[in-house]
Amino acid sequence: MIKIAVLVSGSGSNLQALIDANLSGKIVGVISNKPEAYALQRAQHAGISTVIIEHKQFPNREAFDAVMHQQLLDWDVDLVILAGFMRILSAGFVNAWQGKMVNIHPSLLPHYKGMHTHQRVLNTGDMLHGCTVHYVTAELDAGQALTQGVVQVHLHDTVDTLAERVHTLEHLIYPQAVEWICNGTIQHMENGQVLYKGQVLKQPIQFCKF
Ligand code: GRF
Repeated sequence: MIKIAVLVSGSGSNLQALIDANLSGKIVGVISNKPEAYALQRAQHAGISTVIIEHKQFPNREAFDAVMHQQLLDWDVDLVILAGFMRILSAGFVNAWQGKMVNIHPSLLPHYKGMHTHQRVLNTGDMLHGCTVHYVTAELDAGQALTQGVVQVHLHDTVDTLAERVHTLEHLIYPQAVEWICNGTIQHMENGQVLYKGQVLKQPIQFCKF
């Protein structure tokens, strides 16, 4: 059984969706860089080990990442899930977990990498928006996309209404992507290729909610 660690900084609604999904992998631990993160309570409620590693207590990114890395090794983790983890990771850490670390980003990547995605979608006047589960590489929000959730942008949408709709879809597509990794439907090969049901995955699997 695949052992999973989830890295969080905030509310942890995606963590909750993963807990509720009864994955065929096991979430063995949750790490937060913020002691007040509500995600920690969700994990504890589900009987999952939690560790707080406060980034403020480290002189630099590398020192913080080294402690996280060691914790993941101690848990013997196969898969690292970033779920609202609000820290940029060092290249060394990302490379160590390449092909074993996924993230969810609130946009239809490769569009709108980085922050404030909902506002930027509204500013541009796009008709479609969504979220993407992708492998994490050293380049920000640029790793291979696995699944996407697509929503329509409505005429009177605000950042809040759009964020809420995208968030709801995140809770569907993240557990689905993780389950596919756990049960081998998605495989990350040594040569960097990603397979879906044994075939090279060229486009993310899309889920639409209109
Ligand atoms: C989500 O919007 C996700 O796209 C982004 O961080 C947020 C996490 O929310 N990466 P939550 O803590 O899972 O509720």
